[in-house]
Parts: sequence; structure tokens; C-alpha cells
Amino acid sequence: MPLRVVVAGATGVVGKRLLPLLRERGHHVTALARRTDRFDEPSADEVVAADLLDPDALRAELRSAAPDVVVDQSSAFSAADRQEALQRTAKLRERGTKNLLDAAVTAGARRFIGQGMTALYRPQGHDVLEEDSPLWTDAPGTWGEVVRAFASMEEELFTRSGIEGVSLRYGALYGPDTQFAPGGDVHARVVGSELPLVGDGVGLTSFTHVDDAAGVVLEVLEGGDPGAYNVVDNEPAESNEWLPAYARMAGAPAPVTLTSEQASSQLDWLTVHQLTEQRGASNFRLRETIGWKPTWPSWREGFASMFGLWPA
Ligand SMILES: NC(=O)c1ccc[n+]([C@@H]2O[C@H](COP(=O)([O-])OP(=O)(O)OC[C@H]3O[C@@H](n4cnc5c(N)ncnc54)[C@H](OP(=O)(O)O)[C@@H]3O)[C@@H](O)[C@H]2O)c1
Repeated sequence: MPLRVVVAGATGVVGKRLLPLLRERGHHVTALARRTDRFDEPSADEVVAADLLDPDALRAELRSAAPDVVVDQSSAFSAADRQEALQRTAKLRERGTKNLLDAAVTAGARRFIGQGMTALYRPQGHDVLEEDSPLWTDAPGTWGEVVRAFASMEEELFTRSGIEGVSLRYGALYGPDTQFAPGGDVHARVVGSELPLVGDGVGLTSFTHVDDAAGVVLEVLEGGDPGAYNVVDNEPAESNEWLPAYARMAGAPAPVTLTSEQASSQLDWLTVHQLTEQRGASNFRLRETIGWKPTWPSWREGFASMFGLWPA
């Protein structure tokens, strides 16, 4: 049955892929972002401008959109300064998503689909982690602020009465327009030999192609129990595996190797953590409960397609 769907963050990397998918399925789509001039027409049935940090404007817009489902794909990771990007994202999750949830409840929406991240799990052992694994809320520095903001957002989503809350915990997003694509931050760092291997490079990353990040929303618009779902491919990869492969496909120099001591004086804490101790995530829950399968089951083909080395 066609639904009325509001998509916040509709001009972002995932949001703009999601709009046409929703409309192809016959849903009525209201696209929301701070500015309306970034939209390609006719990507939505309605386009509205509101800041997630402005609760009154949000309430008014959602009341008139009268959604069945609200999807939050907003994010602020694209700020030029990485520290600032983390802080703005934490604020957006802590306050913006809650404002949107309040507005969704007031407007009578049945379900709210938010955006989480698998990078937030506390690293432990050598396992690939499932949704019940604890989030790393006492992580150091700004990363700790980010984890606590997402944890608090999910807590609100899962406990708010009168609405079902779903959190899609994405892995590292790659594909067109992302930080991994030519022109993106990761690409620039690899091409400039600024992203080295550290020590034995056993930090795991789970990847998510942006098409899968958008496509999974269709599956949970109505289906699946409320709660958290890891949305990742089937192949968590150690940095000593994906980083040299990425550099090869990007035509970049092979990454250099630093010792842990060298890395901690040359790189930021978060990068070292991701390369050396981060854990990957399992997509078992999504596969078992709603039969979801990634269209890009491995980052190997996904990266290759991003560089035009694999048929689309
Ligand atoms: N899990 C992950 O690994 C992960 C997750 C997210 C992003 N990323 C990476 O980060 C890069 C940047 O992605 P991004 O998603 O941050 O940026 P983005 O693709 O530019 O999307 C951000 C979206 O959020 C909206 N937004 C931001 N602040 C808002 C506010 N206060 N109120 C209303 N809407 C707001 C933006 O709308 P406006 O038009 O109003 O700016 C835009 O639609 C991506 O290339 C991706 O690689 C990774």
C-alpha cells in the first residue's frame, strides 16, 4: 500500500538515492532539507525547507505532510574540518533527530527510521559484532561524544510510545558522492599517501554501498520489528586488506606502513583506532528477519565499480 513518507537529509548521499526508489514504489514523498534549491525536480512529490534544530518549523512542516513514516538521513559528516564534522553530527543526532521524532509523533506517524553506525560498537575481542553488542559510550574524546549522542538518539527511538523506532546502523558508506569516491576525503588521503597501514593493520571495517543504504529503507518502511539493524556487506575487512586493494584500484601509491608509535604522533586518534582495533559488524539479523541481502555483498566488487573497473 502506498505510504506518505517524509525524508529528512533528502539532499545527502543516501537521501538523494532514496527519493526515486520510494517514488518508484508508489509512495508519496515529502523531501526535507534546510534549502530547497539543492533538489533535482521531480525527485519528490513535495519539497520543504526546515532545520532539524528548529523544532517549531519541523512540527509545522510534518503536521502538514501528515506522514505514515519519517526517515532521517540527515548528517553533518561533510564539514571540512573532521573534528567539527564529528561535533556537528553529534549535535544533529542528539537534538535534531529528537526534534524530528517529536514532530513525527505529533503528526501521527507510525514509524520512524533513523541512521545509526556500526563504527560505534565498543571494540572487543576479535569478533564481528551483532546489534546487542554494547556501544562504546565511554570512548575517548570527541568520539565518545559522538557515540553517546547516537546512543541517546537510539534510546529515544526505541522507547518513545506511540511510534515504532528503527535504527539502520550503516557501515562505512562508499559509492558515488561519498568520501571514498574520487573527490572525497578518503580518496584524497590515499592518493596523497596520507592514509598508512598501522602495525599489523587488523582493525576491521564493515562497508555499506550507498545503494544498499538507500535500498534497505524500502524493506523496513513497514516490515521488520522495531529496533537496531546492522546494514553492512558480507565481508568485514582488515585495513591491511582493503586499504592496499583500494589504493590499487584508485591508481594510488601502495600505502606505507607505520608503527603504532609513529602513527600516534602522525595521525588523529580516530584514524588509528579504525585502522588497528575497530570491529566489523554482522548483517545476520537483517538477513534472518526480513530476508534482506546486500546488492553489493562485497566491497571488492563495490570499490571496483566505483572506479569503473566492474560492470555496473
Ligand atoms: N556510516 C558512515 O560511514 C557515514 C555516515 C554518514 C556519512 N558518511 C560519509 O560522510 C560524507 C558526507 O555525508 P553526509 O551524509 O554527512 O552529508 P550529505 O551527504 O551532504 O548529507 C547531509 C544531509 O543532511 C542534511 N542536514 C544536515 N544538517 C541538517 C539540519 N540541521 N537540518 C536539516 N537537514 C540537515 C543536509 O541537508 P542540507 O541540504 O540542508 O545541507 C543533507 O541533506 C559522505 O560522503 C559519507 O561518505 C559516512
